[in-house]
Amino acid sequence: MRIGILGAGGMADALGTQWARAGHEVMVSGRDLSRSSAQAARMSAAATPSGPSADAAISAGAANGSDVTGVTGASGMTGVTDVTDVTGVTGATGMTDATGATAVTEAAELAGRGRVRAGSFAEAAGFGEVVVVAVREAGLLDTLRAAGAALRGKVLIDVTNAANPREYDLTHSLARLIGEVSGGHVVKAFNLCHVDVWRMTPPVFDGRPLAVPLCGDDPGALAAARTLVTDLGCTPVDGGAAERAALLEATAAFMIGLWFGGADAQAILPPLPSSGTHQPA
Ligand SMILES: NC(=O)c1ccc[n+]([C@@H]2O[C@H](COP(=O)([O-])OP(=O)(O)OC[C@H]3O[C@@H](n4cnc5c(N)ncnc54)[C@H](OP(=O)(O)O)[C@@H]3O)[C@@H](O)[C@H]2O)c1
Repeated sequence: MRIGILGAGGMADALGTQWARAGHEVMVSGRDLSRSSAQAARMSAAATPSGPSADAAISAGAANGSDVTGVTGASGMTGVTDVTDVTGVTGATGMTDATGATAVTEAAELAGRGRVRAGSFAEAAGFGEVVVVAVREAGLLDTLRAAGAALRGKVLIDVTNAANPREYDLTHSLARLIGEVSGGHVVKAFNLCHVDVWRMTPPVFDGRPLAVPLCGDDPGALAAARTLVTDLGCTPVDGGAAERAALLEATAAFMIGLWFGGADAQAILPPLPSSGTHQPA
């Protein structure tokens, strides 16, 4: 699927690279197109299979990313940089000269895989069948406004957390705010774990794949979110309706507090067989 990411920071990098690796088309976005383009080039290279041609793509991406002006997109969207062209095609040319036909084949494969582009917030919102909200709270409202009308009715995956977990406000839900401002179908997900966890391939602990709770109302949006969770090698868990997204935000604030204090947050809960007998009310 096409995934637009509002954000070009750590979470955009970790999740977007994994999804590009899984075959999705990804567009990251930030306030500075040249910075986002460099980020997209790194992601595109990281999402390609390793080998000599991937190394060439990485070099090309690193070399070209910072020079990208944002007007060379093959997609025809003004201001959009198709970084696959930068990394894949440039890499292909270089590898043809250096190592011959085999490398060309590998580079041609690269051009069709690991596609990560960069654009403005509005372009990422328009690009994505699914749009991931991965910006800091301080920039959330401005980002949603910049993304604009393209978010209306879209599947929105909200990974955000409160800026300061120590001063968490129980009455203030970022997911609710995102839904109200955007008019999109919000699913809260991926907010409970540190960015380094989302870089793991796959996130498996003691032989158990990481479980990712999802809170949302729209069946189509939840189905898309489940696919994206599965693509990371994780297991989706039904976390209930959209209004329960605030509980995920509170849980993150609570867990982060424990981790900051050096506690093993996982140890606060018993395994399922010892969790008591529970029946729905
Ligand atoms: N890092 C984690 O471990 C983690 C884990 C779970 C959830 N989260 C949540 O995921 C979201 C993204 O986190 P991240 O780690 O990817 O953050 P990050 O690396 O700092 O990236 C922040 C992104 O937000 C954008 N942004 C827009 N307006 C901003 C403003 N006024 N101030 C600061 N940034 C602004 C930045 O744009 P530019 O590119 O233009 O700078 C950047 O792309 C946050 O809500 C965070 O709470 C983070």
